[in-house]
Amino acid sequence: MYLTRIEEEMFEGKHGDAVRKSMEILVALGDIYEAEKLINITSAQVSGVSYKTIGDAGLEFLEDMAKDPKAKTNVPATLNPAGVDLEIWKELGFSEEFTKRQLRIIDAYRKMDVMTTCTCTPYLIGNVPTIGSHVAWSESSAVAYANSVLGAMTNREGGPGALAAAICGKTPEYGFHLDEERLANLLVEVDAEIAGADYGVIGHIVGKTAKDGVPYFIFKNRPSANELKSLGAALASSGAVALYHVEGVTPEYENAFRGLKNEKSEKISIDRQTINDIRDKLSTTAEKPDLICLGCPHSSLDEIKNITDQLRGKKLKNELWVCTSILMKAAADRIGYSNTIEKAGGKIVCDTCMVVSPIEELGFEVIGVDSAKAANYIPGMCGLGVVFDDFKNLMVEK
Ligand code: F3S
Repeated sequence: MYLTRIEEEMFEGKHGDAVRKSMEILVALGDIYEAEKLINITSAQVSGVSYKTIGDAGLEFLEDMAKDPKAKTNVPATLNPAGVDLEIWKELGFSEEFTKRQLRIIDAYRKMDVMTTCTCTPYLIGNVPTIGSHVAWSESSAVAYANSVLGAMTNREGGPGALAAAICGKTPEYGFHLDEERLANLLVEVDAEIAGADYGVIGHIVGKTAKDGVPYFIFKNRPSANELKSLGAALASSGAVALYHVEGVTPEYENAFRGLKNEKSEKISIDRQTINDIRDKLSTTAEKPDLICLGCPHSSLDEIKNITDQLRGKKLKNELWVCTSILMKAAADRIGYSNTIEKAGGKIVCDTCMVVSPIEELGFEVIGVDSAKAANYIPGMCGLGVVFDDFKNLMVEK
């Protein structure tokens, strides 16, 4: 891969150890994917935060990087969810042992100037790349949103790759940074009126067929931004989709359609019966959930409003977590949503989620979710039963 003179200096360690290590990661990625050069990026989203997922090896790697005073991000970089709510972890029942290690991870990121936003929806809190801009994002659901809904250009980075890119302000030019890689190769016709959790179900179905391809959807109705968030998260977790297009909705659909003229492109259609069948299969038990967890990906303010509206005047038998970022919670506190949710017995939980927290240590047996991504991951990552449905059907009133 071609390196400019300054990039060579960075690679040789003339700008410090952390920059050298970061350049080594970027050059290794560039060589694997046959990139010709590095390109400048405008932002990063860094995953690899929860102590549950990165363990002691990840903690040591980050503390080692952060020791170098020159290990500072060069572009705005936001952070993925951690393993606990950084403020009410004790009240939620997380252990001191786990939390101490989690806080060391957050501290290492803070030292490197990564904004410790701890959310998988950075695009809801100001990390909003403009159309056509190159970024290096990890967190597969955020990658799908950035590429597809915002029209920014990013590969599915891993945590170390995104951190390295943030420190160097660069990423290798390959994959979804190239226009020709962004064309659709799978046509998906959805032959049913759909709403709410259905979008996650469709993402779950199509992700398995598309794998790392680029689906092009034709829907009967127009999805909202929240619905696209659910669709992308499910596509990226049942498959490895990083970019999709929706006819008449997402910014690149007209150009992306050209890819479907290639004889290798495929076509599938999805009807109501298929959606209902897969919806049922996403649940692993018929029991009522003892905990309902909403906000995968992290809830937007209007999703919190919608939850609040459904809870008004109710008292829930199940526990309820609404997972979101600290910024959304601040707004929900001011507007009064938090108060209504708490009166019904729920909690707004920040910085973490039902998958990356050690939720399995809190004594719950069955988690109710309205996210196909969460339903897909909870059995394997948490070892708990899962019920997938719309929120209104998960609630049990006292
Ligand atoms: Fe976000 Fe956790 Fe879901 S990181 S996308 S809420 S699994």
